[in-house]
Amino acid sequence: MRSKSCLFVALASVAGFAATPVSAKTVVVTAAHMIDVLGGKRVDDAQITVVDGRITAIGRRGDAIPAGAERVDLGNRTVLPGLIDMHVHLTSDPTLSGYRGLEFTDSYWTVLGVANARKTLDAGFTTVRNVGSSDYADVGLKQGIERGEIPGPRIVPATYALGVTGGHCDATEFPPSITTAAPQIANSPEGFRAAVRTIRKYGAQVVKVCMTGGVLSKGDSVGAQQLSYDEIKAIVDEAHMLGMRVAVHAHGTEGINVALRAGVDTIEHASLADATSFKLAKEHGAWFDMDIYDDDYILAEGAKNGVFQESLDKERAVGLKQRQTFRAAHAAGVKMLFGTDAGVYPNGNNALQFAKMVEWGMTPMEAIQSATSSAAQALDRTADVGAIAVGRYGDLVAVDGDPLADIRTLERVAFVMKGGVVVRGGSASTEG
Ligand code: ARG
Repeated sequence: MRSKSCLFVALASVAGFAATPVSAKTVVVTAAHMIDVLGGKRVDDAQITVVDGRITAIGRRGDAIPAGAERVDLGNRTVLPGLIDMHVHLTSDPTLSGYRGLEFTDSYWTVLGVANARKTLDAGFTTVRNVGSSDYADVGLKQGIERGEIPGPRIVPATYALGVTGGHCDATEFPPSITTAAPQIANSPEGFRAAVRTIRKYGAQVVKVCMTGGVLSKGDSVGAQQLSYDEIKAIVDEAHMLGMRVAVHAHGTEGINVALRAGVDTIEHASLADATSFKLAKEHGAWFDMDIYDDDYILAEGAKNGVFQESLDKERAVGLKQRQTFRAAHAAGVKMLFGTDAGVYPNGNNALQFAKMVEWGMTPMEAIQSATSSAAQALDRTADVGAIAVGRYGDLVAVDGDPLADIRTLERVAFVMKGGVVVRGGSASTEG
């Protein structure tokens, strides 16, 4: 009885036809321009009403305003939906690459994650998919953020990234006498089914799998496939049965294509994808999530950050190729996401990738959609994030200037609201 009436109130207020409860907090945001990512257009003189954290109305500046509403006038700025980064590692720091991280105790990485969560939110990223962290640190961060103890984005945690012995997600940099806890390592379909069940039990909401070698891992070949079809298929079947999506680290062609045939949801990196990969991705409705900024940072800073020499060599082998693949995949009509692998470059600088995506073939609107409406689809979260639309969270960012004319404006977000609460850059004209 009780839960039914709660549900009615929730639905009624989303639909906007019930009387607003007296305790409701209403915020009305006005701005000269708004990016409508669902319509693919810019709208002028926007007015967005947020009640108790959710958007309840979108109208024109000058429309009637509910009595007692708090006002946020963004003046001449352009307002956009809160941004979504589909590939981050909040508990990583690129300046501690290679063996440098060994100077720090295990819990240090969670503390680092607290700092990075704030930087990420301040940069306008109100939702992130964290695709790999040790010790279930991303689940703890998510819980702390949801309870309001620390500022940060909404987190979709993968917890541990799954992989095989000696693969990209194993700790291959140590001699055999040093053993590491490895709940993420399996070597059979049944082993991977068990691993999926374990990480879900402890908070994973998406499954990350290391399907091929990588750049920053020691001792593997970046293009080599590391899981068999039967192993990745077992992961996909188990994850989908449990209601989770599967994000697959894959640089090499065969690994990408085998994973796509097994029905994975997103291909991360996708550096050496070919025409067959594009066709498979489109047939299966899979997304590419390509971190095409990283090459600049790794080649400029990697050596002084402690990145292994072999990793720098691997980066030189795939970096440019990945960007060419990005252009070709987009031109072929593959669905694309915004994912940076932040942690490989500094967290909080996520928006640097937008300009690369435009340089390599996207329109600014497409780049923005990859980090908003498309990301929400790939997260299966179109009900609550990824657009300025009735029913979704009041997650908004604003920039000076026009991001459709100059995508780099997104590197200087001036205002951030999450769930109707201003977390950065409250405007001078805010009234109580
Ligand atoms: N985590 C990835 C790996 O180690 C980073 C790749 C970065 N390089 C790039 N060109 N995207 O494989």
